[in-house]
Amino acid sequence: MTDTSAAEREPGPGDGAIVTRGLTKRYRGGQLAVDGLDLTVPAGSVFGFLGPNGSGKTTTIRMLMGLIEPTSGTARVLGRPMPRATLAVLPQVGALIEGPALYGFLSGRDNLLRYDAADPIADPRTRRARVAAALDRVGLTAAAGKKAKAYSLGMKQRLGLAAALLQPRRLLVLDEPTNGLDPQGMREIRSLIRELASDGTTVFLSSHLLDEIEQVCTHAAVMAQGRLVTQGAVADLAAGTRGRLVVTTPDPADAARVLKEQGAADVVVTEDRVTAEPPERDLAEVNAALVTAGVRVRGFGVERASLEEAFVALTGEGFDVAG
Ligand SMILES: Nc1ncnc2c1ncn2[C@@H]1O[C@H](COP(=O)(O)OP(=O)(O)O)[C@@H](O)[C@H]1O
Ligand SMILES: [Mg+2]
Repeated sequence: MTDTSAAEREPGPGDGAIVTRGLTKRYRGGQLAVDGLDLTVPAGSVFGFLGPNGSGKTTTIRMLMGLIEPTSGTARVLGRPMPRATLAVLPQVGALIEGPALYGFLSGRDNLLRYDAADPIADPRTRRARVAAALDRVGLTAAAGKKAKAYSLGMKQRLGLAAALLQPRRLLVLDEPTNGLDPQGMREIRSLIRELASDGTTVFLSSHLLDEIEQVCTHAAVMAQGRLVTQGAVADLAAGTRGRLVVTTPDPADAARVLKEQGAADVVVTEDRVTAEPPERDLAEVNAALVTAGVRVRGFGVERASLEEAFVALTGEGFDVAG
C-alpha cells in the first residue's frame, strides 16, 4: 500500500477511538507542524503520544479536539469526523491541553463549579456533588477552598484533570499531564491515569518522557519533526528493540559466516566486532558453533539496548528535552 492510498482512505467508525489519515497542519507562518499523520488509537487503550518538544503533539491534539482546522487529511474521534462533529463529540471527551485555564482569584472548588456551569448538559442540581467527587478523585478535597493562584503546578494540573473528570467520559485527552511536576506529583497523576483506564476509558496522553509512557501505556506512537516514526503495542515496540548479539574476535569474516548459518539476521562486521540480531535458538549453541568452526572468540554476549536508546535511534533526538 502506498502513502497516497493510506491518506485517501477515509477511516470508518469502529476503527478506533481516534483515527487519523494523512493529517497535516501547516501554520500560517509556513511551519509544517504535523505531516501526514496516520494514527490509530484502539478503544480502551492507554495510548502514549511520545515525542520531543516541537514534534507536533499539541498541534495534533488541537486538531483532534476541533480547536484548529487541519490543512489536509482527516481525523475521527469516537467514530465521528473532526472538526465537523465537534459539538457532538466534545461532551464525551475530557481534555487537558497545555495547562488548564484557571481563574487564580477563585478557589479550586469555585473554578470547578464555574466550569461545570458552562456545560449545557450538566444538571445544576447535582453540580456540588459532581464537583466534590472530582476533587476527591484527584486528591484536592483538603485544598478545595484555597485560591487557585496559591496552588502548586501539580495542584493546578490535578485541578485541570478534575475538570476533565466532571462527567463520565469515553475518552480522555491529556497533553503532557505531568509536565512540570515533581516525582511525587508525577506518580500521583500516573496512578490516577491507571485508575481511570481500569474502568475502560480510553486515555490518550502526550509526553516527551519515554519511561512515563512505558510505565502507564498499553500502546504508543512516536513523533519526530511532525512525522509518525512508529506506533503499536508498547510490548511489541519493546520487543522490537531486542538487544544485539556481539562477538569480539580476530576472525570476524568467519564469525559472520557462522552467525548467518546459525540464523542470525542483520550481521554487521566492524573491525574485530561482529554484531547481529540474535537467532531464536539457545545462544550457548551459537557460541559452541563458533568455536567448533575455529573462530577465536574473545567476547560473546548480548548488548541490551534500552527502549529509550531504540527510540532515540529511531527519531535521532532525545526525549528529555527541557521546557
Ligand atoms: N500557533 C503556531 N504558529 C506557528 N507555529 C507553531 C504554532 N504552534 C506550534 N508551532 C510550531 O509547530 C511545531 C510543533 O509544535 P507543537 O505541536 O507545540 O509540538 P509539541 O507539542 O510536540 O511540543 C513547532 O515547531 C512549533 O514551533
Ligand atoms: Mg506540546
